[in-house]
Amino acid sequence: MFANTATRYGSIARFFHWAIALLVLVDIALGVLGKFIPRTGDTVDVLQILYSTHKTIGVTVLLLAVLRVAWAFSQPRPTPLHPTRAVETFAAETAHWVLYASIFVLPLSGWVMHSAEVGFAPIWWPFGQNLPFVPKSEDLAHTAANVHWAAGIVLAATVAAHIGGALKHSMVDRDATLARMWRGTDAGDPKFGGAAHRAPAGVALLIWGVTLGGALTVFAPSNHDEATLQTPSTQTGGWVVQDGTISITVMQIGAPVTGTFANWQAEIEYDTDSGTGAVNALIETASVTLGSVTDQAKGPEFFDVQTFGQATFAGDITQVDGGAHTVVGTLTLVGQTLPVTLDFDLVIADGVAEMSGTTTLDRRDFGMGAAYPDETSVGFSVEVLIVLTAAQPD
Ligand code: HEM
Ligand code: HEM
Repeated sequence: MFANTATRYGSIARFFHWAIALLVLVDIALGVLGKFIPRTGDTVDVLQILYSTHKTIGVTVLLLAVLRVAWAFSQPRPTPLHPTRAVETFAAETAHWVLYASIFVLPLSGWVMHSAEVGFAPIWWPFGQNLPFVPKSEDLAHTAANVHWAAGIVLAATVAAHIGGALKHSMVDRDATLARMWRGTDAGDPKFGGAAHRAPAGVALLIWGVTLGGALTVFAPSNHDEATLQTPSTQTGGWVVQDGTISITVMQIGAPVTGTFANWQAEIEYDTDSGTGAVNALIETASVTLGSVTDQAKGPEFFDVQTFGQATFAGDITQVDGGAHTVVGTLTLVGQTLPVTLDFDLVIADGVAEMSGTTTLDRRDFGMGAAYPDETSVGFSVEVLIVLTAAQPD
């Protein structure tokens, strides 16, 4: 009943198969959906729920996978139904091994990515968020994301072939392959013994070796700081920044200190007719200067530039009235992604746009300066001032 025999899957193996199959398919759908939702101030709540669900399901898959493999080790594998069709049996066995590995590689790479980042979309469970021995590091998170992505493609392709095979058996061959896994039907001739495991397992190992090797080397950017923004395209109302300053002002022992970021880039699309557009900015946090406290600002308490080399901002521009505009978006700073609204004035004359805008952030929202819990030495508010000129290339 519970256990497998040489000719049937027991209820425990079938429970593991279908529970994990369902969770994996839902998680692929959520992961892909997440890629299509733009990251703006309006979508940040939905994304948070989507990714928390995705991560919680993924961790559940991992726990079930451990139990499933422990159980499978204690069980006979039912004999192949068509042992004489050597190629088909080999392909099916290989797919099973690839799938077995995927239910570890996907959740583990996802979890490493989650542990290496700071705090967005928690796993909904009480057992802690972070894996031991995984440091907070943007580069590591990026590498794990590459592995997760490549593994997702291998998984999706294998699942498609696996489902295709199951459907072929039930619709073309009209045999008991699907019924054996679905209802626990007894089928097959035990005198053939189990399928050959070694060679298909070897091929599956090779597939994973190439996938992981590729994700870790060829496709992995060596350094996150090399990320750049694309040049805006003129067809879509792209503006090229000519000059500008991003400055921040914070109260230090009751007196304002102002500093700037030397390195940043922005990709701006703006349609003068509709007064709408979008902005994408990348700020190198290590380029900050803040008077005599520059080193402290770069240190782990504040911008933590060793771990988080970049801050990013992406948002949508809307015209409020005349030159008054607002951009609503999300700012990712020290690994925290939060909605931010920036009001700015825009004056366009002779194809040159002059923009000047401000917003106020609270350093506590980003977990900055936890060792300064009151405002005696460092204020909570950080005034951000952005002034730039941009032109539309002809
Ligand atoms: C609608 C989706 C699916 C269908 C119709 C399906 C169908 C089947 C069938 C009919 C078998 C038995 C094959 C045989 O006896 O030779 C099987 C085995 C297997 N399936 Fe699926 N499957 C589905 C999704 C998945 C997913 C998403 C995974 C894993 C991520 C998976 C992993 C496996 C594994 C590892 C086996 C080998 C049997 C074992 O040791 O448990 N399947 N599947
Ligand atoms: C069965 C387990 C899982 C499957 C099948 C799966 C699948 C996917 C897929 C297909 C994507 C979209 C493609 C991509 O960007 O990589 C994705 C994205 C993502 N997954 Fe998973 N995942 C699983 C488990 C997890 C777990 C356990 C976590 C974290 C604890 C996680 C975190 C993420 C994150 C943060 C993204 C977005 C990546 C980005 O935007 O770069 N996943 N996942």
